[in-house]
Amino acid sequence: MPAGPDPTINGLRFVVTAGGTREPIDPVRFIGNRSSGKMGNALAAAALRQGARVTLVTAAPAPAAQPGLDIVAVETAAEMHAAVRAALADASVLIMAAAVADWRPREVAGNKLKKGADTLTIELVPTVDILRALRDDGAAKDVFVVGFAAETEHVIDNARAKLDAKDLDLIVVNDVSREGIGMGADDNEVTVIDRDGTVRAIARAPKSDVADAIVRIIASRVR
Ligand code: CTP
Repeated sequence: MPAGPDPTINGLRFVVTAGGTREPIDPVRFIGNRSSGKMGNALAAAALRQGARVTLVTAAPAPAAQPGLDIVAVETAAEMHAAVRAALADASVLIMAAAVADWRPREVAGNKLKKGADTLTIELVPTVDILRALRDDGAAKDVFVVGFAAETEHVIDNARAKLDAKDLDLIVVNDVSREGIGMGADDNEVTVIDRDGTVRAIARAPKSDVADAIVRIIASRVR
């Protein structure tokens, strides 16, 4: 059921991230992941439908322009961090639906790496944990922060631990071990966990319906 405008979030700015970051190896290669950006795009569209203004910071192909939607295209975790930080200045809600790479090559080769050797070793170093960095430096101080958790085992316990570790207001959990939902799929089925421990299941449905349900939950918590 499509959601109409919600007076609670009407006119508020949501910052939504989408897609999988790409961490360059050389001018033509990168380390990436299977995120399609569909869930982030669906959340941006749901927030717009419910009356919010949206800045979509995306590492996936951008959706069509529409009123109320600002799109910031990024590639790497570092670029996503900078773009989200800037966009938070006048935002009330951050939804981090992006699959941010946890590792990046230490060195980015200036020229295309040539084949020839028997093996190639690429040294990886951690990327910035965007959610944690934004909490630590105060950029997300007055923002309602929603994280996503992609888990394959101990799904609820791991998500609760992530909510605490990243000081989130809400976490949306995907069980990525299951076929037909989550990364790359058109459907999703998620569990939403609140800071106060409330656990809500959102049944399998097209990502746009799941996104409407998530934004309604956020609207009920943003006052
Ligand atoms: N995230 C982030 N910065 C990163 C990695 C993840 O802000 N460098 C965010 C994601 O956008 C998501 C949440 O943190 O909202 C959890 O992401 P997930 O990949 O499930 O967790 P990780 O922190 O990467 O932990 P792990 O991979 O060990 O489960």
